Amino acid sequence: MNYVNHIAYWESGETIAEGAEIPPCAPGDFPEVTYDLERLKSDLNRFAVTQGPASLWRYAPLLPVEEVDNAVTLGEGWTPMLPVDRLAVAMGLQTLLAKDEGRNPSGTFKDRGASVAITRMRELGIKTIIHNSSGNAAGSWAMYAARAGMRCVNLVPDDVLAGSLQQSVLSGAPTFILDGAWKESGAMVADAVAKNGWHNMCTLKEPYRLEGKKTMGYEIAEQLGWALPDALVYPCGGGLGAIAIYKAFKELLALGWVTGPLPKMIITQYEGCAPIVRAFENDASHAELWENLDVPPGGLKSTRPPGDKAILKILRETDGAAYAISTEDALAATAEMMKLEGIFPCPESATTVAGLRKAMSQGILEADARVVLVITGNGLKSIPVLSNAAYQTIKPGEPLKI
Ligand SMILES: Cc1ncc(COP(=O)(O)O)c(C=O)c1O
Repeated sequence: MNYVNHIAYWESGETIAEGAEIPPCAPGDFPEVTYDLERLKSDLNRFAVTQGPASLWRYAPLLPVEEVDNAVTLGEGWTPMLPVDRLAVAMGLQTLLAKDEGRNPSGTFKDRGASVAITRMRELGIKTIIHNSSGNAAGSWAMYAARAGMRCVNLVPDDVLAGSLQQSVLSGAPTFILDGAWKESGAMVADAVAKNGWHNMCTLKEPYRLEGKKTMGYEIAEQLGWALPDALVYPCGGGLGAIAIYKAFKELLALGWVTGPLPKMIITQYEGCAPIVRAFENDASHAELWENLDVPPGGLKSTRPPGDKAILKILRETDGAAYAISTEDALAATAEMMKLEGIFPCPESATTVAGLRKAMSQGILEADARVVLVITGNGLKSIPVLSNAAYQTIKPGEPLKI
């Protein structure tokens, strides 16, 4: 028994039964799980949630699974929300917090989507799943598929980071490196799905991954003492994470578990793949294909973000902003986060630090705004991307001078 109503398409509003096959939809549209929040509200209060496990499964009543005992879990979620006071001072803010998603089992926030979606897919009897991933999701989904006894087919780009590749290969996932343009990968997955009957779990093609990722939003609110921040900065690729956090905030408001205005949603992308930023600046309602992909190995490679329309709407509704960050600034921000706070972000997520600096310089946020940076992944996987640290070599017996 759960509180799921049905699946509703975000734009068309069309509904289908939860668990039924998901038909393809128009570009920019996507299927979302809806809940009977009135019934949930009368059965459960937010205190009950706080008594749950220290993982995202504390929110099980707000997730689309039949039985929480079916959870495919490696201990994902309930990641720390760390005050970053020195960085706050550097930004001219009084309160700045980092939601450290690098603590998840595979090293990124992707584990939330994988845990919940693979749980539901296994309940539905799905055996083989496939997606194209710049790497982090490939590693994560391979690990959770192994845990579930399912098969995950991964298509990854030729610059995939070794950490993600090894997570995928060692978990037994059939892993294909695409020797060609990454923008071809979506069509290749669709083709493999049509030919083999595998389940397509690419971003926003199915509704369950979003449900897992939305738990970031629940946690942010709960960790702030059931309150919403004033602004949230998020590194945006396909758009799923930001849409999911927004959905979580809306559900919490509907439940009456939090009050107040929605936070300003600020997203960041690399300059070498910034279709959402470009569309936002051009006042467009959807993003055009980004032709010249030029980003470091790792995430944020979505040249045609499937969540474009929803993200752009969220940015405008919340009076948010979108910033393109150079690779150089992202790498400098990675080092800044380490130096000031001892938190090791992957450069993709460090774009939020550079984006926040832009937002502050443009006067988008007041000094007393309570701001959350979502650090979506750990820097350990990104070592090949990071510049050589300024260390010194020394011979035995030589004095250590600093
Ligand atoms: C570390 C990291 N952060 C953020 C993202 C953005 O993903 P999405 O916009 O789909 O939530 C990705 C994926 O591209 C990623 O690997």
